Amino acid sequence: MSRRGPRKVAVVPATDPAEVVARFADVEVLVVGDLIADRFLWGKVSRISPEAPVPVVHVVDESLRLGGAANVAHNIRALGGRVSLGGLVGDDALGGWVREECGRLEIDPCAVITAAGRRTTEKTRVVAQHQQVVRFDREDLGDPAPGTMSAFSKALAKRLARVDAVVISDYAKGSLEPSVLKQLMSEARRRGVPVLVDPKPPRFAVYRGASVVTPNLKEAATMSGIEIGDERALARAGRKILESLRCEAVLVTRAEDGMTLFSRAARPVHIPTMARDVFDVTGAGDTVIGTFGLCEAVRVERALAARISNAAAGIVVGKVGTAVVSGAELLAALGGRSATKEDACTA
Ligand SMILES: Nc1ncnc2c1ncn2[C@@H]1O[C@H](COP(=O)(O)OP(=O)(O)OP(=O)(O)O)[C@@H](O)[C@H]1O
Ligand SMILES: [Mg+2]
Repeated sequence: MSRRGPRKVAVVPATDPAEVVARFADVEVLVVGDLIADRFLWGKVSRISPEAPVPVVHVVDESLRLGGAANVAHNIRALGGRVSLGGLVGDDALGGWVREECGRLEIDPCAVITAAGRRTTEKTRVVAQHQQVVRFDREDLGDPAPGTMSAFSKALAKRLARVDAVVISDYAKGSLEPSVLKQLMSEARRRGVPVLVDPKPPRFAVYRGASVVTPNLKEAATMSGIEIGDERALARAGRKILESLRCEAVLVTRAEDGMTLFSRAARPVHIPTMARDVFDVTGAGDTVIGTFGLCEAVRVERALAARISNAAAGIVVGKVGTAVVSGAELLAALGGRSATKEDACTA
């Protein structure tokens, strides 16, 4: 499916969430950003160490999952969309694992570049009695070898020719150099492909040219320079980000208060959270931008896209760890048919 000129950005007047979710299978989203391996060590604590005032964790299980931008891609795939991935991995065993895991989950790693001399970013969480005891990170934040970034940009430009939306997931781990972002955004604009950004302040101007940004409350406060203490301050912050980035919409995610969508043409739309049982909020932001990216790819009206994304986040916070949501679970939450046990997505 190659595209010649800039695509038409007519909004699909889909008011039926079931129709929107059904269309996810027709589109492809390119996710670009920092690729992370999320390792979890699960254990039990029954004593304090005699060596230092720290708990001794008896590890009983271990798991490894795609994190960062790769988790956004996993969310898109789980919802039924086609997805390709761009980012850097190290020339180590974990980098090989990221590629293999992409293959297993049907994520196309077409723009995953191996950066010589670097290690793959890895976050390890030790969890005991449902609580995180410590997290340790292994990462290289220095500049990658010459040529790495130009290979990265080239691979992204190549894939841009066939995708319906781009999602940029910035975790400030060094993949998204300003030159790479600039080239990606201008090429996307030229082709009429919408770009959504999950930002990492204090970076700000580098996101200019995006169609939609999805900061959480704290990020929105940093980006706007406005302390967000009430709804009026939130409205001022939303407007300020819209104007300064000259983007089309700002979706501020507000944890237990749901989310608020700011756009140029319409009044702010507030959507309360749908979550009933909250177990683990890790990665809820990834689910939001993944779902919103898919909606943008099928050109759904943004207020509906926000409602659908909020429903997806409401499901994922009820699961443990870096989890994902299936299309059937999403439909059930939106009032369509109910999800059966087999539909539940835990992969
Ligand atoms: N405690 C909570 N209770 C109910 N819903 C929640 C809660 N936390 C998050 N959510 C849902 O998840 C969405 C995104 O959460 P949040 O605003 O915390 O994003 P985030 O800080 O980017 O998350 P993260 O970076 O941890 O992935 C919210 O808009 C809401 O729908
Ligand atoms: Mg976030």
